[in-house]
Amino acid sequence: MRGLVITGAVVALAGAHPEVAGAADDTQARIVGGTEATTAEAPWAVAVTDDRGRQFCGGALVAPVKVVTAAHCVVDEITGTQRAPQELRAIAGRTDLRTDEGVVADVQAVWVHPNFRGYTSGDDVAVLTLNAPLPQRPVPLVDPGDTEHYRPGTVGRVYGWGRTSESGWPSEGLRAVDVPITTDEACRGAYADYDPQSMFCAGYPEGGRDACTGDSGGPIVADNRLIGVVSYGTGCGRPNTPGVYTRLSRYADELTGQL
Ligand code: ARG
Repeated sequence: MRGLVITGAVVALAGAHPEVAGAADDTQARIVGGTEATTAEAPWAVAVTDDRGRQFCGGALVAPVKVVTAAHCVVDEITGTQRAPQELRAIAGRTDLRTDEGVVADVQAVWVHPNFRGYTSGDDVAVLTLNAPLPQRPVPLVDPGDTEHYRPGTVGRVYGWGRTSESGWPSEGLRAVDVPITTDEACRGAYADYDPQSMFCAGYPEGGRDACTGDSGGPIVADNRLIGVVSYGTGCGRPNTPGVYTRLSRYADELTGQL
């Protein structure tokens, strides 16, 4: 009982200084370590939700009826069962998910990369075909075999409505963070399963900026091209633990075949 009272007091105290917390958040705690973004600047950034409007992943509009997302967003990794298209929605033009701005699109078909087994083995990419074209501007997909946009140090911008800290709540508003692509060595150092053919890593050695839970499937763009999809990571924003992204240059031909 006493413990509960003390916990309550700490929460109340934290709540008494919202400006201080807010000021810190603006530079440190969005996506993880990002800033507020809007669907005006990233019209192709979509929220992937269930049929009750609960957001669980992100995606990127690459053609008026096509959304690229992560395979693990639409496949249950334990059973291998695919989510039914009628249980999925793509929401475009809605910066703040508490509003009814923008458009909610129904999904007609789900294509999952045929080799997908689990995100740590790569091929973590899927395409949703929408029932009707969205008016929002699509993002160009990176070219097949592109290496230029994956050089270590190239800065990618990640967008999502995911958690703003490892154990925090998902965000109601779209957020974005800039993260540099790491070397293969840095990525392999953090993830024994790292496969440079099908993945890449991005983040800072000191951590602090990253995608997080709920950002999966969402876009990372460089030079106005969709270069990757948020795939996985250990925790969020930890030092020497970059985020792992699906390397879309590897899949560009297959994806274009789906468009
Ligand atoms: N798998 C997570 C999801 O389903 C995305 C994790 C990305 N994590 C990271 N630290 N970059 O939302």
